[in-house]
Amino acid sequence: MGFEKLVFGKTDVHELLNEFGSPLYVYDEEILRKRCQEMKSLLTYPQFRVNYSAKANTNVELLKIVRSEGLDVDGMSPGEMYLEIKAGFRSDRITFIGNNVSRNELQFAVDNGILVSVDSLSQLKLLGEINRGGSVCLRINPGIGAGHHDKVITGGKKAKFGIAVEDLPLAQEIAARCEMTISGLNQHIGSLFLEPDAYVAAAAAILELAAMIRSVETVDLGGGFGIPYRHGVEQRLDLANLGTQLDTLINDWVASHRPISIRTEPGRYVVAECGALLGTVTAVKENYNTFFVGTDIGFNTLVRPVMYDSYHEISVVPREERPYEEYSKPVYVVGQICESGDILAHDRVIPCCHEGDALIVHDAGAYGFSMASTYNSRPLPAEVLIEKDGTIRLIRKAQTLQDLWPD
Ligand code: LLP
Repeated sequence: MGFEKLVFGKTDVHELLNEFGSPLYVYDEEILRKRCQEMKSLLTYPQFRVNYSAKANTNVELLKIVRSEGLDVDGMSPGEMYLEIKAGFRSDRITFIGNNVSRNELQFAVDNGILVSVDSLSQLKLLGEINRGGSVCLRINPGIGAGHHDKVITGGKKAKFGIAVEDLPLAQEIAARCEMTISGLNQHIGSLFLEPDAYVAAAAAILELAAMIRSVETVDLGGGFGIPYRHGVEQRLDLANLGTQLDTLINDWVASHRPISIRTEPGRYVVAECGALLGTVTAVKENYNTFFVGTDIGFNTLVRPVMYDSYHEISVVPREERPYEEYSKPVYVVGQICESGDILAHDRVIPCCHEGDALIVHDAGAYGFSMASTYNSRPLPAEVLIEKDGTIRLIRKAQTLQDLWPD
């Protein structure tokens, strides 16, 4: 991508960095609302609700917007549920979809009246001990998985998640012993699909299981809806086509079985594109014939490129006007972390950068801040929201050095 001045075509990048510091996460309310609405209208099937999977981004101000659009939420931990409650979600709008969680964590959900989805027989037994007579949701591992990287494939024979289909009769026995009602089934086979086939096949498979367990009132088909990180190269996920296929599947199922509620669990789709990460070019050099653009965006701030080889588009915002010029060959854009793997983009064609230029890393709203760390003892950055009317609002203060060791 080339030179840019504004983020989301709206706000001056250098002004934002001057006011709130660098690096900085910026979110656009309009885009967030649009993505929520698109997810809500995925199906025409009337008993359909969307659970936003908050692990993608738990900023409470963004959660409030998601809630105001009528979405529900998933939580993976007491921390996520705590933030969801803070954002005003009622407990019956939250599902705890944990993995290998402790008795105390299950107790937290039960005490707050939150439905729990368990993903092993062992967790089902544990929940049965503390919530005898209650309802439970079972997370199924359908034996198939899909995703953009091995590390985000969450279904299949080698994935740590979910109850194997062959163990369902045992799960029913355990639930019966604890007088628990299996009110829901859910699954999540992996993250980031841009073609509908695997999702539709997995939806058909879980509905078949729901046909066999008559107490099931809700089937949650999972998340994983992808976004085109490579602009102009990847096609957008065709939601209309996916929705039509799912509607047909569900309506046929309902016609031959019973009414049922359907849910999905999108994380990335809701928040990825409404977020951008701004940073600053701190040093440039050519070493042994390789160009390096050094920045303050290390993997402490955005870990996706290092963890999954993920691609994010990068735009350069020159500090002052100058003619457009490109490097003679692809470059490495790197961070300030003391590890050679701290690479934001490699073999990237970008305009020549100067110290003090700013960068926009696009589509950083999902699994950006939520996976950031204080590695190398670098405080977490601030987050700001561009509201619908253009107002800029600080929605999380940057950490300070004192926050690294609160007295
Ligand atoms: N439901 C469950 C149970 C999940 O584990 C996840 C994501 C989701 C829903 C939402 O998936 P999504 O719609 O966002 O694909 N950090 C990785 C993605 C990890 C996803 C983990 N589970 C990344 O940055 O690509």
